[in-house]
Amino acid sequence: MKTASISISLASLILSGKALVGSEWSVTNVPSTGLKDITFPLTIVEADHISGYYFAQQYAFINSGIGYTGLQPRPDANGKPVLHGVFSSFIDGSTTTDKNCAPGADGGPGVSCSVEWNGVYGRRYDFEVKSNGSSVWTGTAIDTVTGARIHIGSYTVPASAGGHPEFSSRIR
Ligand SMILES: *[C@@H]1O[C@H](CO)[C@@H](O)[C@H](O)[C@H]1NC(C)=O
Repeated sequence: MKTASISISLASLILSGKALVGSEWSVTNVPSTGLKDITFPLTIVEADHISGYYFAQQYAFINSGIGYTGLQPRPDANGKPVLHGVFSSFIDGSTTTDKNCAPGADGGPGVSCSVEWNGVYGRRYDFEVKSNGSSVWTGTAIDTVTGARIHIGSYTVPASAGGHPEFSSRIR
């Protein structure tokens, strides 16, 4: 079995419609059926404790659309920091029954899931995006200090999304 590896080009900074700054990366040696899970480590070392910023990873499903997962600062509540975890699909026909999720993504088709918790700035959270083996995908933030698994949400992508609703090898 081949081992997939990730290459990140920090030189290729892109300015897209909504992103302030970004870097493009891709995974090599991915089987033609794609990946069934991927984990993105994310640490907000320091940020204003306000809404408005989204530290996100974008991924693409084979022959269909994209999704995002990541972390947003929020104002402190009761003197404690609050982090907002996001997991979304921009694929038309995505569905959900998860209480953390709602139809629509940025005003278009898809599903958006989110959860808030008293997160810790400077702590690494691993954002896991995982398939149940078919079309159901679950987003989880894993606290790398306590090991706690924070459920962000779960959605189903249409079977028409390539038949194999797995990640493409080309992600930007
Ligand atoms: C994934 O979950 C869906 C919905 O519960 C189910 O229909 C499907 O069989 C599951 N897939 C696998 C491989 O377990």
